[in-house]
Amino acid sequence: MRIETRLTQRLGIRHPIILAPMDPVAGGKLASAVARAGGLGLVGGGYGDAERIEREFRESGNERVGGGFITWSLAKAPHLLGLMLSHKPVAVFLSFGDPRPFAPEIKATGALLLCQIQSRQDCLEAIEAGADVIVAQGAEAGGHGVRRATMTLVPEIADLLAREAPETLLCASGGIADGRGLAAALALGADGVVVGTRFWAAEEAVVHPSMHAAGLAATGDDTIRTTVTDIVREKDWPERYTTRIMRNAFTEQWHGREGELLAQKPAEMARFQTAVAAGDATIAGLVAGEGLGLIDTVEPAEKIISRMVHEAADILKSTARQVR
Ligand SMILES: Cc1cc2nc3c(=O)[nH]c(=O)nc-3n(C[C@H](O)[C@H](O)[C@H](O)COP(=O)(O)O)c2cc1C
Repeated sequence: MRIETRLTQRLGIRHPIILAPMDPVAGGKLASAVARAGGLGLVGGGYGDAERIEREFRESGNERVGGGFITWSLAKAPHLLGLMLSHKPVAVFLSFGDPRPFAPEIKATGALLLCQIQSRQDCLEAIEAGADVIVAQGAEAGGHGVRRATMTLVPEIADLLAREAPETLLCASGGIADGRGLAAALALGADGVVVGTRFWAAEEAVVHPSMHAAGLAATGDDTIRTTVTDIVREKDWPERYTTRIMRNAFTEQWHGREGELLAQKPAEMARFQTAVAAGDATIAGLVAGEGLGLIDTVEPAEKIISRMVHEAADILKSTARQVR
């Protein structure tokens, strides 16, 4: 079963599904599993740890994978881009910042440039950068993001691209966790999808087992957009971004009381780090989106992709049969 789109053709992949470059969840093992299953696997470059980038690209073996950076963080250590490009990634995914300073170096190697955006203005900057694929991210997404919902952002960006850059492809991201999400994204005008949370629950993901257990028990109602984890991780995110994580005792205690948290930062940082090491989901930040409510098993990436494609194909076919 295949769903062929402009994305599968341009990227030379079998299914229009891209693994989000989740730091540290999407390592070489998960990226290569997604590639073997016919999607595009992206290694999360995160906040830029040279050793990690080297290790995870080695781990991905000979599969055709790409990698991603948090753009504002890359701007603080721009040499890491060259390091990633030395591994000949098929694509580089930039999110959360201005991609224009990095685009020429990426495109000069022949790697495709994927830009995740959260607004029309971001999209215009990504077009100017020469993005091959725009990834429109709605706020349902796990991890960092802004405010717009996938349902309206994707078609609005599809219209914008049709007018301003018809050759530029579009992917939807945020809340796509099964075949219904994939079919909906295609109906909204996307050429494919970028999936994070569903692959967070893949066997190959780098996730503590007790975090997986807590995430599977949660629903979409149990997530929240907040900044409390960035405060205790000392990640200096630009103000427009918050992060979607599972609600827990830590968010209940501190969300809305960020000033007080700042005042008690050293003690809370220590408590948070201990919880992360122990996989204590009541304190540590379980980074995942509203899609948690659609996930009840941890499975191999191959199974996730195959079911997503089959479900989407069934929906698209049965919907077409309803048309008179
Ligand atoms: C655990 C986790 C970690 C993430 N880390 C990153 C990251 O390091 N860089 C990035 O560009 N996006 C990151 N994201 C966001 C993804 O790029 C993507 O927008 C999101 O996962 C899509 O929504 P979904 O989670 O509902 O599938 C992360 C998402 C999750 C769930």
